[in-house]
This record gives sequence, C-alpha cells and structure tokens, in this order.
Amino acid sequence: MFKHVLKEGSASFEPCEGIFYNPYMRLSRSLSVSILRAYKHLVNKDEPLTLLDAFTATGIRGLRYAVEADYQVDFLDFSAKAVECASKNLSLNSIKGQVFDDDFVAFSTNEGFKSKYDAVELDPFGSPVPFLWPALYMLSSKKRAILSFTATDGPVLCGVQGDAAKKYYQSHIPHNSFCHETGLRVLMKKAALTAAEFNFAFKPLASFYYRHQWKVIAELEKSHEGVMETLTHISTAEDPFTKKHYGPIWTGPLFDEEILAKASSDDKQAEKYLNLFREEYSLTSSIPYHYSLPAIIHGFSIKGNMPSLSSILKTIKEKGYRGTKTHFSPQALRTNMPISDFVELLRELSIDNGS
Ligand SMILES: C[S@@+](CC[C@H](N)C(=O)[O-])C[C@H]1O[C@@H](n2cnc3c(N)ncnc32)[C@H](O)[C@@H]1O
Repeated sequence: MFKHVLKEGSASFEPCEGIFYNPYMRLSRSLSVSILRAYKHLVNKDEPLTLLDAFTATGIRGLRYAVEADYQVDFLDFSAKAVECASKNLSLNSIKGQVFDDDFVAFSTNEGFKSKYDAVELDPFGSPVPFLWPALYMLSSKKRAILSFTATDGPVLCGVQGDAAKKYYQSHIPHNSFCHETGLRVLMKKAALTAAEFNFAFKPLASFYYRHQWKVIAELEKSHEGVMETLTHISTAEDPFTKKHYGPIWTGPLFDEEILAKASSDDKQAEKYLNLFREEYSLTSSIPYHYSLPAIIHGFSIKGNMPSLSSILKTIKEKGYRGTKTHFSPQALRTNMPISDFVELLRELSIDNGS
C-alpha cells in the first residue's frame, strides 16, 4: 500500500506523486510545531486543542501538529488526489481526524464547522490574503484562537511589484536590503487589521522568514481594549538609509517572550533558530529593520575585510548601543545605532581587520 515512506520530525508520510511537498520547509514546520506545542502547554495543558490544516497537500504539517504537539487535527484540500494522499498518511501514523475535499473558502461558510476549531493553519500557494477573512470568520465565535499562515509571494512582499503590494496589502514596500523584514511586517499588519474587523486583538507568538517563505503564528483574543492596543502597533516607518517613509507596517514585536522561553525542538536547526529568536526578540518592537552588512559595505564602498558579526556587536555595545543577531540573515544585525555611526564603525573595523 505504501511505496516510499519518509520521516519528518516524528511523523511518517508518503510524498505521493504529483502532490506538493517541499523538503526545505521542514524547518518552518519544525518551528511551527515547537511554537504550537509551547502554546498548548501554556494555555491549555490538558484540554484538547482542535486545528484545521486547511491547505494540507500530503498532510505533513497537520500530521506533525497531531503527532508532536498533541493537537486534534482535521485536514482539507480541494485536490482529490491530495485528500487521498493525506488520508493514507493519517492511517500511516494511526491518526484520527477528518480529511475534507473542499475549497477552503466554501468550507469556511459551513455553519457546522464555525465553532469547531481553536486554530486554523493556512499554507496556500502565494499570498494568504484571500483566506484571512474566511479563516477569521471560522474562528470568530471563539474567545481565543490561533491563526497560523504562510506567504510565498516574494516579489510583492519584497517590494519588487510595488503596485501589487498596494493592491493586496495596501502598503508601500520599498525594495531594499531589509525588504524581507518589511514584507513580514506588512503581512502582519494586513492580518492584524483583518482580525480587528472581528474584534480580535492580534498577538504574534512567532513570525519569521526562511527561504522565500514568511510564516506568522498569532494568538487572537476577543477584546475591545486588546484591539485598540493592537492598532497602536500599526504605522508607517522611516527607512534608516533613505529617510523616506514606507508601510504602514506592524511595528510591534515579532515574537512572544513567554512562548519562546517554553519552546524547544528536537530539530537542531530549529533549536538554533529558536535561540536566535530569543536573542532578537528584545529589539524587534523598537527597531523594525536590520542592517545587512554586505549591502552596507557595497553601498558605502567600505574597503578591507568584513569584520565578524560578534566583533561588531561587541563594539556596538561598548559604545553604549544595543545590538543583536537576526534570523533574517547570518550577515545582518539589529541595532539602535544610527546608520551614519554604524557605517563609520564598519569602516574602522574593516580597515583594522584588513591590515
Ligand atoms: C503549498 S501546498 C500546501 C503544503 C503543505 N501544507 C505542506 O506543508 O507540505 C498548497 C495546497 O493547498 C491546496 N489548495 C490551494 N487552494 C486551495 C483552496 N482554495 N482550498 C483548498 N485547498 C487549496 C493545493 O491543492 C495544495 O495541495
């Protein structure tokens, strides 16, 4: 019955022919598992939490949430072949759960499922924007819920297609060296505003970028005061290089500190990212961008050898500023040091390093 069984995390699955499966997204799935597991431990240790994996393909995401984070998962895809594949994969892991063959938007209007799920997972091709409202509608009778979504519309969220960004996200996104962060924050802004339409406050548990994919996992809470607080985190921002305004974006934190403290993973790469998130967290609500070293060295014609990230961070701190690594790039950092001072510092350290 099973031809070619693979393992990802603790789940076994068959990557059926013609059904989407991207092995490079293992890290995103491992991180999502660790965040959802930490959430369950913090809010709801013993009660089951129900989740709809609404764009399931092979079922691998939902299977991992069920096997590794103990969620009660149902699965959905509008491809009959994907439904067949996911159903096989459920039985391979002895998971109980329904697998629906439907269009997610049509499914979301089915009153029978309106209050069934505590969490909805959106992993479509391209942008999740058309699916945010239906997902929030499905969750709208809950006091608390989880909305987890993915975006892969890179040219739009990274500012290459400015008009499309205005149309789909109602934001101005410049194409620059930190556009992956701007893209993430524009995506979060869009989701937070859509959540506000349902009187849901929006609290990111973890939001990150990895290999052309943006991922956001947010807790929603029905609360007028919470929504008003959410709205204080939405505004335009100033590009530190051009001094021009862009956005509007989400200017709040990218992570939740308590969730990060609780999160862990058996996946070594995911654990490395969780450590980066923990370091980066403290500056994500005050500095909504990062400095890319190669871009600055090139843009400001800095000569010499590029100093190590740790030596730059050490000097930044010695000069009284704050600084952290960032998960967006191993060659970038987040700091409150003004760009002019940072360029000077990089010039000095590069010359020292080159001599
Ligand atoms: C990017 S893949 C999902 C990948 C999967 N979650 C994983 O981790 O490997 C997107 C899937 O969504 C399905 N899909 C796209 N639009 C849909 C819709 N409107 N309703 C239901 N399924 C949809 C596609 O058939 C495809 O299997």
